[in-house]
Amino acid sequence: MDKTWWKNSVGYQIYPRSFYDSNNDGVGDLKGIISKLDYIKDLGINLIWIGPFYKSPMDDNGYDVSDFYDVDPLFGSLQDAKDLIKEAHKRGIKIILDLVLNHTSDEHPWFIESRSSLSNPKRDYYIWQDGKKDSHGHLHAPTNWGSFFEGSAWNHDPITNQYYMKIFSDKMPDLNWNSPALREEMFKMASWWLDQGIDGFRVDAIAHLARELSFSDSTMPLNAHHVAPDWGKFSNRPELFDYLKEFNEKVLSKYDCMTVGEVGGGASVEAGVKYAGYDAHIFNMVFNFDTCWKNNIFGNDNLKDEDIRINVLDMKRTFNLWIQGMKGKGWMPHYWLNHDHPRVMSQYGDPLHFHRESGTLLGTILLTLPGTPFIYNGEEIGMTNVDYTSIDDFTDVWVKNYAKQAKTHLSEEQILSHLRRTSRNNARTPMQWNDQAYGGFSTHVPHQKNVGNYALINVEKQLTEKDSILNTYRTLIRIRKDSKYSETLIYGDFKLIHPKDENVFAYHRKTANQHLMIICNFSKEPHDFTVPTQYRHVIFNNYQNAHIRKVLHLKPYEAMIVEV
Ligand code: GLC
Repeated sequence: MDKTWWKNSVGYQIYPRSFYDSNNDGVGDLKGIISKLDYIKDLGINLIWIGPFYKSPMDDNGYDVSDFYDVDPLFGSLQDAKDLIKEAHKRGIKIILDLVLNHTSDEHPWFIESRSSLSNPKRDYYIWQDGKKDSHGHLHAPTNWGSFFEGSAWNHDPITNQYYMKIFSDKMPDLNWNSPALREEMFKMASWWLDQGIDGFRVDAIAHLARELSFSDSTMPLNAHHVAPDWGKFSNRPELFDYLKEFNEKVLSKYDCMTVGEVGGGASVEAGVKYAGYDAHIFNMVFNFDTCWKNNIFGNDNLKDEDIRINVLDMKRTFNLWIQGMKGKGWMPHYWLNHDHPRVMSQYGDPLHFHRESGTLLGTILLTLPGTPFIYNGEEIGMTNVDYTSIDDFTDVWVKNYAKQAKTHLSEEQILSHLRRTSRNNARTPMQWNDQAYGGFSTHVPHQKNVGNYALINVEKQLTEKDSILNTYRTLIRIRKDSKYSETLIYGDFKLIHPKDENVFAYHRKTANQHLMIICNFSKEPHDFTVPTQYRHVIFNNYQNAHIRKVLHLKPYEAMIVEV
């Protein structure tokens, strides 16, 4: 197998707005990232995925791009981006950039031109349709399709009395990939960034570049917004593979770059192979969301704390499904969360009773799976969900749309508790560097409120504690990269041990020359675990009391790596 650099990498995702604010205006910036590169290098990272920093009106924090060729002044300048690339490379760290292909901002010059008249040459850069008139002569959206950010997938534009498609926010009109001229513009832009020295892309929302072009209504039941959440109308449709192949052929194949596409929730393993199989000639990997919601909280906004259950069985089944399904066919990225999900510590860990233990268990699993792991900034210190007490503290555009609608049937307290568990704001709080004001992120009030626990959970503190989550992530990355184990941990076979055990997540990692077992008690209760094969050496244990035993009395969230 080709053992190229991105297979041997440990990735780290930075959400630029919340990482480090070097000019103290309350928003993180590129110079801030540069100043933390040594921290990232010391962690053992050699690949950074950095969220969008293009010029943007920030309706969706930069995913709404108004100029692909420039850096938003909030984050710095184009020179800062070039310096960041150079400084990262100096430290042996590659940088991939978020590439937004599905939409632009409505303030992008292309859209301003496109909306100006029916005959504008850029009209077909976007997806325009006539509305439908009802029997009273009232105009309605062309279809009943819903958008991901609540409400309709269409927005009326008075200038030409047509609707433009937008599967995210009103300010993010969808690009029309059916237009060859548009595709060329996007290819040119991506090549330009590669020419600036970027090492590749995390490609945003790639599953949606093609739509059902007959624009027929969905037959699915309508939701509270009177639209059908029928993602199939614009997800994983066959035409998009042609667009992406062309992208690969005209751009990606010309560079030594790496790409991870975001396919989100609706893609099967078979689709994963179509996007990122070794023979697909599209992307190197795809991120699916299937392991992100293995408790019952997603889409369930009326749950009591005692009703929340982590389904370890299903989590193991899902990891296994993807790993086995991609085996020999394509390469897997693994991650616990990104900027669109709650903090994994609050989602699957136990921040109150077993912060260190559950945080290090999560790290043990992430860093011993086959493929390329991605850590999300703050995960390495076990950052938690927000403790906000007002709906107004939540700033995300999706959350705001949701809260407006939820007020019609839920109490303020129910909405708050749902948002504290599920919202995207959870992962977007300022990074907790130390116990100073605002967690050392800035001296200015941050763009989004800190979590109140930064005096307890912060980088500075964990650097001094030998067994902290941070130091354990460093140890685990060191083990993953150690030539004694790297072949097995990165490339070795993966096989679940006791797949029906509801609490212990355990697996073999094997090559012809080595056999490791990873044994993790994914539970706040102790559990006994019968080891299937005698082992002779404990490589890692997050409790430091490991013995060689046939039946292990695993403590809460105990995690081990052993060698047979
Ligand atoms: C992706 C991004 C998300 C963004 C959306 C629209 O899912 O991860 O943050 O809101 O695309 O660009």
